[in-house]
This record gives sequence, C-alpha cells and structure tokens, in this order.
Amino acid sequence: MNEPIIECRDLIKTFSSGAEVLHILDHADFSLEKGKICTILGPSGSGKSTFLAILGSLERFDSGSVRVDGYELQTLQEKSLSVFRRKVVGFVFQFHFLLGDFSALENVALPGYMAGLPRADAWKRATQLLDLVGLRNRAHHYPSQLSGGERQRVAIARALINEPPIVLADEPTGNLDAASSEELRSLLQRLPEAAKTTLVLVTHDSELATIGDTSFLLKGGISNASDKGS
Ligand SMILES: Nc1ncnc2c1ncn2[C@@H]1O[C@H](COP(=O)(O)OP(=O)(O)OP(=O)(O)O)[C@@H](O)[C@H]1O
Ligand SMILES: [Mg+2]
Repeated sequence: MNEPIIECRDLIKTFSSGAEVLHILDHADFSLEKGKICTILGPSGSGKSTFLAILGSLERFDSGSVRVDGYELQTLQEKSLSVFRRKVVGFVFQFHFLLGDFSALENVALPGYMAGLPRADAWKRATQLLDLVGLRNRAHHYPSQLSGGERQRVAIARALINEPPIVLADEPTGNLDAASSEELRSLLQRLPEAAKTTLVLVTHDSELATIGDTSFLLKGGISNASDKGS
C-alpha cells in the first residue's frame, strides 16, 4: 500500500449552540492513498461539508490529527494555512462561484496569477485545462454564456490551475440535470490520472458515488445536551 496523502486520526469535531452540542466527528479515522477517489456519503446534516472543510483547513477541529500532503494541520498557524490552501488543495462546490465579468479562460487563470505564476504561464496552463475539461472552444465565453454543466467544468479547471495534489469537491453535480451530471461524472472519474491529483468527493448522487475507489460514511450530526448549563 502506498503512503496515504490524507490521514486523520482520532478526529473530533463538535459544534455548540447554547446548551446543545452537535457531535459531527467522534474519534474518526480516515486515510486516502495518492491518486485515488474517495466518496463522502451520509444523510443531510451528517457533516460531509464540514469534514471536507476540515481537510481543506477552512474549518478547525476540536482534537485529533489531520495530515494532508505532509502538512500537519493541527500545528499550522494562519500564514502557513494560507500557503497550504493555495498549493495543496483545489476546491469545487455545488455552486460554481465564477466571476461574471471575466471569461472562462480568465476565471481559470486568475488563481494562477494570484499564486505568483507568470501571466503567460497562467494563460497557457488555463488553456490546457480548458482543453482537459472539453471547453477549449468556450474559452472566451463569459459565465452567463455557458450552460450549468459548462460552468462546473470551468470551476474544475480553475481548481486545477495551481496543480493541487488534492481536489475537494462538494456536490459538484448538485445543480445539474442528468445529462450534464453524466458528463461531469466521466470528467471527475478521469481527473486523478489526467491531472495527477487525488479526489475527495461529497455526493448525494448515487451514480456519481460509483466512481469512488473507497468511500467514507458519515453518520454524525448527533445532538446531545452538553454538561454545562442544563
Ligand atoms: N458553524 C456552525 N455552527 C453550528 N452548527 C453548524 C455549523 N456549520 C454546520 N453546522 C451544523 O452541523 C451539521 C453538519 O453540517 P454540514 O453542512 O457539514 O452537513 P452536510 O452533511 O454537508 O449536509 P448537506 O448534505 O445538507 O449538505 C448540520 O446540522 C449543521 O446545521
Ligand atoms: Mg453539505
């Protein structure tokens, strides 16, 4: 077995509001090998998005350890975390979050410039990525001139611009019809090989869930009254 690129040990995550404590992750262990696809499954409210946000260092956790591509997230300060977010992870969400005033090509290239890539290189890489997602002929279209499925493919190309070893996708087909979902499924399935990355995919879509090499089932969201207060 290869060395895991993601490894969580004894992970605890709770949310508190008033006297309620919501146990999202309760001593959870998780690991994923480089180049694989893992699907994160579980009912609404079970903590799938929260878990993905923890892996991408957008959300803190209570205790345990999370190692992602050699970064021990529990020990990092904010400055190192922002380097981690820029270099190690690419995010794709249910909503595309493309900038309406920029073309598809500019949307893909922008996080490249922001990470310090020379303009010509960012442009070239963005063109290659649009090719990879099958949208070379839409490079100069604005988001309003693209279909929902095309916008999501641009969002995937954008997530790849800084060559992240890990892509975190949260219900990327959530807003799409069956035909666009099917296209996105085949793109996501070949992503690890085509873009030399590892994919963690949250999905409710049973068809999309089939592309996982492994899966992680969340049952969290259990609410207990806390000891304090009540
Ligand atoms: N910042 C927060 N403070 C308090 N509770 C929160 C916070 N963020 C999320 N929660 C709660 O934690 C639980 C898990 O939320 P999360 O968004 O991770 O679920 P999910 O599995 O992604 O659900 P869905 O499938 O509906 O997207 C939910 O009950 C939610 O209300
Ligand atoms: Mg969610």
